Amino acid sequence: MAKIIDGKAIREFNLDKIQEQVEQLKAQGILPTLAVIIVGSDPASRIYVNNKKAACERTGMKSLEFALDEETTTEELLELIDRLNADKSVNGILCQLPVPKHIDKNKVLERILPEKDVDCFHPENVGKLCIGNGGLVPCTPMGMVKMLEYEGVDPTGKHCVIIGRSDIVGKPMAMLMLARNATVTVCHSKTVNLAKITKQADILVAAVGIAKFVKADMVKDGAIVLDVGMDRDENGKLCGDVDYDAVKEKASMITPVPGGVGPMTIAMLMRNTLTAAKIQNDL
Ligand code: GUN
Repeated sequence: MAKIIDGKAIREFNLDKIQEQVEQLKAQGILPTLAVIIVGSDPASRIYVNNKKAACERTGMKSLEFALDEETTTEELLELIDRLNADKSVNGILCQLPVPKHIDKNKVLERILPEKDVDCFHPENVGKLCIGNGGLVPCTPMGMVKMLEYEGVDPTGKHCVIIGRSDIVGKPMAMLMLARNATVTVCHSKTVNLAKITKQADILVAAVGIAKFVKADMVKDGAIVLDVGMDRDENGKLCGDVDYDAVKEKASMITPVPGGVGPMTIAMLMRNTLTAAKIQNDL
C-alpha cells in the first residue's frame, strides 16, 4: 500500500518557512501585500478567496480584497488593475477565475504587471518559465514539486506522465519537471492508447477534471501518483481524478483528495507574494 502524501502537513511546513521570511522582511520595513480581485458571486470562488486571505494572515502578510459586482466591465477591471500596478505598497495582484463571460479574461491577465503576477499567468512569466529563469512560478504545479521535494523524490531520469494539457496545470508542470531533469510526456483527451503511456509513468500527474478517471490498471507498480482533481463522485462526495482506493494499493506514494495537492496551491501563492515583495525591493 502506498505512502499517503499529506498535503496539509507539507503546506504547514512551507507556510512556517514563509512566515519566518515575512518576519525578516517586516523587520526591514517591508510588508508583503497581496491584492485579490473577485468579480461576481460564484460560491466556489468566494471560498477560494477567503482561504487566500486566511493564508495571508497565517503568514503575516497583508491582504486587500476588491469584490466587484457581476456587471463590472472589462474597462473598469483594467482601471482597477492599473491602480494596483501603480501602487508601490501592493506586491502581488490576483484576479480570481473564472470571471463573468462578458469580461475579456486574457486582456485582464495580461494587464497585471509581470512582477506582480503571483499566479504566473502573464505571457512574459510563462515564457520565463519555459526558459527556466522565472522568479514567480505557477502555484499548483510548484505545489507538486514541493511535495516531491519534501518526500525526498528526485525527478531526475524519471518518466513523468501528465494527463491534462491546461495552461494552469498540465503545461507548466511539464516545464517544471523538465527543469528537474525528468523525461516528460503530456497526454490529453485525444491521446491514443492512454493507458499504455500512463503505465510507463514513474510519476503520474492526473489533471483531467474527471472523477476517478485513473484506474488501477493504468498505473505501474510503485508509481508516485499526484492527483490535481477536485471532482464529485456519484454520491456528490468530493474526490479526485484518481480511483484512489484501488490505485493506492499499487502506487508507492499517492496524494489524497481532499488534503493532497489542493492545500499546496495557496501555500505557493504565499511563496510567490513573498518572492514578488523581495524582487520589488531589490532583495
Ligand atoms: N481559479 C481556480 N484556480 C485559480 C488560480 O490558481 N488562480 C486564480 N486566479 N483563479 C483560480
